[in-house]
Amino acid sequence: MSKEYERLILAKSYIEERLASQGLDFTPRIGLVLGSGLGGYAANMEVLAEIPYRDISEFPVSTVPGHDGKYIFGYVAKSDGAKVPIVAMKGRVHYYEGYSVQTVVMPIRVMGMLGIESVILTNAAGGINLDFAPGDLMLISDQITGYVPSPLIGPNIEELGTRFPDMSKLYNPEYREIARQVAAEMGIDLKEGVYVQFTGPQFETPSEIKAFRTLGASAVGMSTACEAIAAGHMGLKVMGISCISNMASGILDQPLTHEEVQETADKVAHKFEQLVTGIIVRI
Ligand code: HPA
Repeated sequence: MSKEYERLILAKSYIEERLASQGLDFTPRIGLVLGSGLGGYAANMEVLAEIPYRDISEFPVSTVPGHDGKYIFGYVAKSDGAKVPIVAMKGRVHYYEGYSVQTVVMPIRVMGMLGIESVILTNAAGGINLDFAPGDLMLISDQITGYVPSPLIGPNIEELGTRFPDMSKLYNPEYREIARQVAAEMGIDLKEGVYVQFTGPQFETPSEIKAFRTLGASAVGMSTACEAIAAGHMGLKVMGISCISNMASGILDQPLTHEEVQETADKVAHKFEQLVTGIIVRI
């Protein structure tokens, strides 16, 4: 067993023991990564348990304000009274914080090992497509890994997946269709496009944005592509939704700030929560 897999097993066992100590025998079906704008998502759940990352041995802990880290276990209710068991990740760690990409994806992999079949990745992203506007929601159709190393570099964790995983349908096509339908029913104008991940923490330069627009990117962020790769490697079904929190560098004649990102994400929170809940009860 590889060292990396041992770390993952340790984290998974700790979580299972902790849930059991609360009398819970709980297998989540969907993992939900709460990006900017969805930080309050727990209000839409029947929460059973919360486990802070800092309690889990060797788990990465976020250093970014507003990104406190914990798993939230609970249910999302369907209209017929049935309940979907989910685990939400409130807060994630980023490559720019200095963690290795392998460490960054630990929380995703552990959710996979806890039994989820699908993961919904959400984030705030800068709009590269000139037809987008801040406040738009964008369904991720595909991704470009920018300059971020693959989380699969190093000895392959055979227990999780194959050495050379296929990424041709990384963002599950059936799930994307469901997302489009749910958005249409809710009257949400859901955009769609390609997400590119840069390492950050600096925002991009106008030339970088121009270059990646030419290469086919529609939105840019600092988190999601490496998570999607780790999830895809494990055979999880992946969905991704970006909140376009700002127009990317060089589009508007104004500096980019983290505050703008958070402000827009907070403004769209309600719409974003509704959409995500609508999708969870359908997939
Ligand atoms: N660039 C990179 N990451 C981001 C941005 C951006 O413009 N907005 C939100 N996250």
